[in-house]
Amino acid sequence: MKRKKYKMSIFIIIPIMVVILCLVIFQIMKNSLKVKVYLENNLNVEINEKLTNISLIKKVTNGNIVDKEENIDTSKLGKKEITINLKNKYGKKQSYKYIVTIVDTIKPVITYNSEIELFVGDNKDLLEGVSVTDNSLEKLSVTIEGDYDLNKVGEYKVYFTAKDSSNNITKEEVTIKVKEKNKSNNVDIVPDKTFTTSKGFKGVIKNGVTYIDGILVANKTYSLPSTYGTKLTDETMTAFNEMQSAAASEGIKLTIVSGFRSYNYQKTLYNNYVLTDGVELADTYSARPGHSEHQTGLAFDLNSVDDSFGDTKEGIWLSNNASKYGFILRYPKGKTNETGYIYEPWHFRYVGKDFASKLYNNGDWITIESYFGITSEYSN
Ligand code: DAL
Ligand code: ZN
Repeated sequence: MKRKKYKMSIFIIIPIMVVILCLVIFQIMKNSLKVKVYLENNLNVEINEKLTNISLIKKVTNGNIVDKEENIDTSKLGKKEITINLKNKYGKKQSYKYIVTIVDTIKPVITYNSEIELFVGDNKDLLEGVSVTDNSLEKLSVTIEGDYDLNKVGEYKVYFTAKDSSNNITKEEVTIKVKEKNKSNNVDIVPDKTFTTSKGFKGVIKNGVTYIDGILVANKTYSLPSTYGTKLTDETMTAFNEMQSAAASEGIKLTIVSGFRSYNYQKTLYNNYVLTDGVELADTYSARPGHSEHQTGLAFDLNSVDDSFGDTKEGIWLSNNASKYGFILRYPKGKTNETGYIYEPWHFRYVGKDFASKLYNNGDWITIESYFGITSEYSN
């Protein structure tokens, strides 16, 4: 009786084990035919950031990707399913799906001056010259939070704020100084002065502002009055917006990180640089007050104030394309003896399309100084 039971259990257990073994072998064989795709740990992508079908794939084993690299639209928030086609080592096709999430965690960037000085009763728009950009490319506006009275002498702290639709909020503190009006605030009227440059271009100095062949020039030789400028000019902003949209359509994100700078703001900046680096070194990279192109309202710094910016895809794109929108790379590499400043791959100046295309010179940028035959040197 006992022996019979033993025999029966052998007849049941052995076939089950054989089936399990077959299943394991089948699974191992199946896996060895499957292409394995390893993804990056973070499958979140910022809105409008460049993403391709393969940029989040860390590696592929047991086969390879058949598809060509293609841009994925990242202009809308939310989940996006990406399918790629693969081929295993025996040439058999497979497909693989994965989900990326388009997010927006980046705050808007407000371009502003942290100090606004005006006189009692001045009917000044406090948001003049203030602009806001955001990676979402939404049209945002800046609001002013806080109490102030432009009809009363005093110092007021307010906040310029901007919020994008993903609730990323930027809040910048601004001091408004309302001063007493007095006679010394009157601006002296200076008569026009004309001159001819060493290359025969006609120059004129009108109310302290120099124009050569119609182009406003500000450098170490040619200065601006301390009261000049209020904001980036409308034509500069229009040209920038056009360039920004064209760049975005090629996956290039452009952001103004420093736009208009008043005389007083430049003075604070320059003086701080002198404290850290001394006059000689500061003069190689920062303009003295009244000499900065930022005060013209025609120039700005884009994305990153860093030497390596020139080698990034944004820096390369700008150098190749900015002239089409009327901008020049103002301080090119190797031209310090002409411009008076070291290479600044981030600083662009609006001069209009015609002049910009002349200075572009197929990528071998000509400087304003060399084109007109003028210097850039301080007189003291
Ligand atoms: N960095 C440039 C020269 C300026 O300060 O205007
Ligand atoms: Zn600059």
